[in-house]
Amino acid sequence: MRQQAAAAGSGTERAAGAERAGAERAGRLLIVRVDGEELVTESGRTVAGLLLALGRVSWRTTRGGGPPRGVFCGIGVCHDCLVVVNGAPDVRACQRLVRGGDDIRTQDGAELPA
Ligand code: FES
Repeated sequence: MRQQAAAAGSGTERAAGAERAGAERAGRLLIVRVDGEELVTESGRTVAGLLLALGRVSWRTTRGGGPPRGVFCGIGVCHDCLVVVNGAPDVRACQRLVRGGDDIRTQDGAELPA
């Protein structure tokens, strides 16, 4: 199942057959997974940009009590935006560009590498 972006024109949505295949070959579209949902998104955006385009404002919880966190500084300083990417925890979503095949997961507190 493919996930569609909440906002129209966000660049993260379902692409149709031949158009999608051509865009993938040209490197403009990437297929990724976010919390188990496969989706197609444009290349050149950060993980945080992708998650925000999906309408998500928080995607991790802290170790102490579990309050939600998302983007705070947006420049790699605060570490509020941590996600698990391809089994590696504590990836700053605002600094990591999305790559084809990425498996992006919400991070719950402190996680150990897979
Ligand atoms: S939002 Fe501050 S490090 Fe990503």
